[in-house]
Amino acid sequence: MKRALGTCYYPEHWPEEIWADDARRMADLGLTWVRIGEFAWSRLEATPGDLQFDWLDRAITTLTDAGLKVVLGTPTATPPRWMLTKHPDMLAVDAEGRPRKFGSRRHYCFSHDGYREEAVRITRLLAERFGKRVAAWQTDNEYGCHDTVISYSDAARDAFRTWLAQKYQSPDALNRAWGNIFWSMDYAEFDEIDLPNLTVTEPNPAHLLDFRRFSSDMVARFNQAQVDAIRAYSDAPISHNYMGKVTEFDHFDVGRQLEIATWDSYPLGFLEDRVGASAEDQRHYMRQGDPDFQAFHHDLYRAVGTAGRPEGAQSDIARWWVMEQQPGPVNWAPSNPAPLPGMVRFWTWEAFAHGAECVAYFRWRQAPFAQEQYHAGLLRPDSAEAEGFAEAAQVARELADLPEVEQSQAPVALVFDYASQWAWETQPQGVGNDYFQLVFETYKGLRQLGLSVDIIPPDTSNLDGYALVLAPGAITLSEAFKSAIDATDAQVILGPRTNAKTAALSTPVPLPPALPGLDVTVSRVETLRPDSPEPFADGGTYKLWREQIDTTEEVIETDAQSRPLMVRNGTLSYLAAWPDSDAMRRILTRAATAAGLTPVHLPKDIRIRDTGKTRFTFNHGPEPVEYKGQTIAPAGVLWT
Ligand code: GAL
Repeated sequence: MKRALGTCYYPEHWPEEIWADDARRMADLGLTWVRIGEFAWSRLEATPGDLQFDWLDRAITTLTDAGLKVVLGTPTATPPRWMLTKHPDMLAVDAEGRPRKFGSRRHYCFSHDGYREEAVRITRLLAERFGKRVAAWQTDNEYGCHDTVISYSDAARDAFRTWLAQKYQSPDALNRAWGNIFWSMDYAEFDEIDLPNLTVTEPNPAHLLDFRRFSSDMVARFNQAQVDAIRAYSDAPISHNYMGKVTEFDHFDVGRQLEIATWDSYPLGFLEDRVGASAEDQRHYMRQGDPDFQAFHHDLYRAVGTAGRPEGAQSDIARWWVMEQQPGPVNWAPSNPAPLPGMVRFWTWEAFAHGAECVAYFRWRQAPFAQEQYHAGLLRPDSAEAEGFAEAAQVARELADLPEVEQSQAPVALVFDYASQWAWETQPQGVGNDYFQLVFETYKGLRQLGLSVDIIPPDTSNLDGYALVLAPGAITLSEAFKSAIDATDAQVILGPRTNAKTAALSTPVPLPPALPGLDVTVSRVETLRPDSPEPFADGGTYKLWREQIDTTEEVIETDAQSRPLMVRNGTLSYLAAWPDSDAMRRILTRAATAAGLTPVHLPKDIRIRDTGKTRFTFNHGPEPVEYKGQTIAPAGVLWT
């Protein structure tokens, strides 16, 4: 597949006289794609109904005349001020009941019917006018960014009642499913049910989890409405740009509605508060970013790009891009260092190694005004080349020589399940118990052994071709996945907390994990203080989450008192605690070896990614690393 580069451009920010020169410079740099339009609503419709599309028409002409392909973003993440006058109740409301006001972006509630109709209207008008002239679409911008999925507005409350009535049909059925008898929380009518905020103590977890599912469905409904509006006038593929560690909506649901999944990769922006890295690693990776966080999202969004295709586990047909690649320092993280020289090129190659079709840099020119003045672009505000420009140019030259990066199925599959994230957040049972972190640490452990990984959705029904499959913390296994586990020859590791709850977040009887073919019963769970991990008998510790299990199976890991922590029957294993990196390495090495793979213990900063024909080796560290007889420079990428 032909790999391409692109950038994000805001013609409405610049005098029209410089558009043609910008377009020429983009093409000369070797860019193919340019995304425009996603924040331009106030220029497209300055007052209700006063449509001014001519400037956008001229911008598209200028860009396409230079040979660029345009991705047009629908401008619905930034409704203009008049929208609020027209729909005063369209704002999202926070958990304290405070409206999230106008003056930045994403100030809308997904459940508000009036706003959704406005979003569909502007989308339809754009599709009608430009549907045959643009090469791709983007719906909205970063659903969920700035914590915008959950809203406690009146619109959300009314829509939630309707959603519950459809799901449960009768208040009695809902009362039973939620266990509302517990504190006399029964409802006689759906209209009595409120949103689960501002309660005296914790609300019913089933109420919370349904609210999370509902909130996710509202995002998918909003997106589908735009997709339908575009589809009526355009055959161009439709994308959405997801974010790093945004888990408030089910990306697989939105992914099923779209042709292309994209995401916005800000490795240095993410490092301090999304990765969960130690203070020491935050310093070590300050100018390079975490060695696994970007890769995790590349693999996750490759799966989201595949969602809805008949064989969800096949990665070779995924369409996914990096729509926004950090090109220099950003402005929004706790601290904002410049990347190590070479990292912009490095991040681009890392994305290609994971199968990206296109990597687009955010943004073309640094803005001299408003919120993101300290956010680098490929150009400085004075139009001179910034540091990232030469690195993008280098990638463009290298792309010409590179052997095709062919995708192939990875040997390892790791489940990521958004609903499990919501369930863990609803009932963490102790500080620090975070599903994303458990899955991410498992992913990190696999990568440290040199293994390439496919992330797969929780309803995957076919595990053919995988040697090792893991589903840590997947709290309610789907019937499809249970059958797939039954059918596979792969080594499978489940637990901790896998298949621990019913879909209504109650404890099933027989007690979990209730897996056919594995005699394990979780008879008690406990959580540990974050500062008090306890030892595995064979080295390393377990932390935060620990289950006491009754079992007759072969015990392969124990605690210091010889109580079972991991058991195995044939290819199926259950892990009853959250291992630290040392114990994780032993557990994964054993399983990978049993699966016929060849795990290696990579140096701290080295990562490998295997594709159809090419092995990529990356040095994520700030110093040169000796590996297999070669010295790999900082920001170094080798392909063989
Ligand atoms: C992204 C967003 C862009 C821009 C960028 C800055 O999250 O989509 O519009 O704000 O961050 O890094």
